[in-house]
Amino acid sequence: MSKSSPTTPSPEQSTSPNPWGLSSARIISFISHKGGVGKTTSTVNLGATFALSGQRTLLIGLDPQCGLSQSLGFDDVTLRGGLKDVLTAGLPLAEVVHKTSLENLSVLSPNAKTMAQEEQYKAGIGEYGVLEDLLDQVRDDFDTILIDCPPGFGPETRAALTVSDSYIIPVQAEELCLNSVKRMLHFIQDFGPVARKGILREGLFLTMTDSRIRMSKRVSKSLSKEFGRDVFKTAIPRAARLAEMASQGKPMVIHDRRGRGSRAYFNLMDEVMVRHGKRPQPVLGHRRSLRKSAVAGLTVGSGVKQTTRGNGSAPGSISRFWRSITRRGNGESSTMET
Ligand SMILES: Nc1ncnc2c1ncn2[C@@H]1O[C@H](COP(=O)(O)OP(=O)(O)OP(=O)(O)O)[C@@H](O)[C@H]1O
Ligand SMILES: [Mg+2]
Repeated sequence: MSKSSPTTPSPEQSTSPNPWGLSSARIISFISHKGGVGKTTSTVNLGATFALSGQRTLLIGLDPQCGLSQSLGFDDVTLRGGLKDVLTAGLPLAEVVHKTSLENLSVLSPNAKTMAQEEQYKAGIGEYGVLEDLLDQVRDDFDTILIDCPPGFGPETRAALTVSDSYIIPVQAEELCLNSVKRMLHFIQDFGPVARKGILREGLFLTMTDSRIRMSKRVSKSLSKEFGRDVFKTAIPRAARLAEMASQGKPMVIHDRRGRGSRAYFNLMDEVMVRHGKRPQPVLGHRRSLRKSAVAGLTVGSGVKQTTRGNGSAPGSISRFWRSITRRGNGESSTMET
């Protein structure tokens, strides 16, 4: 990541009140039963869009593979500690939260380097209430915390769900993925701590779509049929640049803001905010490109599925807000056409 960006948000933006209307950070987990669907890529890029819009954002990678910190340009040398050190040496969490070169964006990783450390980390993080207690130490310092989970329903995912306000499921545009989504949703339903605490389903979104491939369109249709308005209108297109830039440790939304993949993540951020009844904050250098169809019929605050209790967002019409966006927009869309 470059050390400075001409579009880094101003200090006034970074001290603005919590954009979710909450007194501490909203915690959202990225989960999926199947691996390789774009959880890490989406956590990093969506997180960076939040940071670019002025939200104090913390990205937490719970996967011991540490793909998240690598995608942000950290390596074994620059990552000077992580959750493993907090769990084994009792360090305060704030000491292992790393600032990135993008203002407002911080990262926290497991930092488990050997097999023994990985086992210690997994055992520690899987203990009920541990992650919640740790995040309580920093929750007031951030507006948004995104958690990237490993695939499946292992100890990290269960810990993440226990501490989260809501979850998002990325779905790769492949038929095989649909069954794994249903499986994941059943697991969540049966998971006691989540049922007791109440957790919201932000929604599902398609990743790696390709409008030239029939299967992509088929999966999009089946997903909408099965999950209706739980499916975000925004789909993330297959874009080689997203993968290339991740391997170079450069989130695409920061370094190639006008690329197709970046535009899709900016649109996804807008859609998440609109679903919560919030007006998305403008991001310099990003022109709103969602088409009106992307939120047609959507009512502010109505898009987030409640598992057991509400989030207090007041429903209302978004039409005025939407008109203001489309007047400024350029008519492009990353929405999956079916
Ligand atoms: N929209 C996209 N277009 C092209 N390649 C992508 C896209 N999104 C992700 N990828 C690539 O697909 C691979 C898997 O993505 P990613 O690591 O984000 O998935 P994941 O769900 O986190 O995987 P895992 O379950 O193993 O943690 C990576 O090589 C990534 O660079
Ligand atoms: Mg991953």
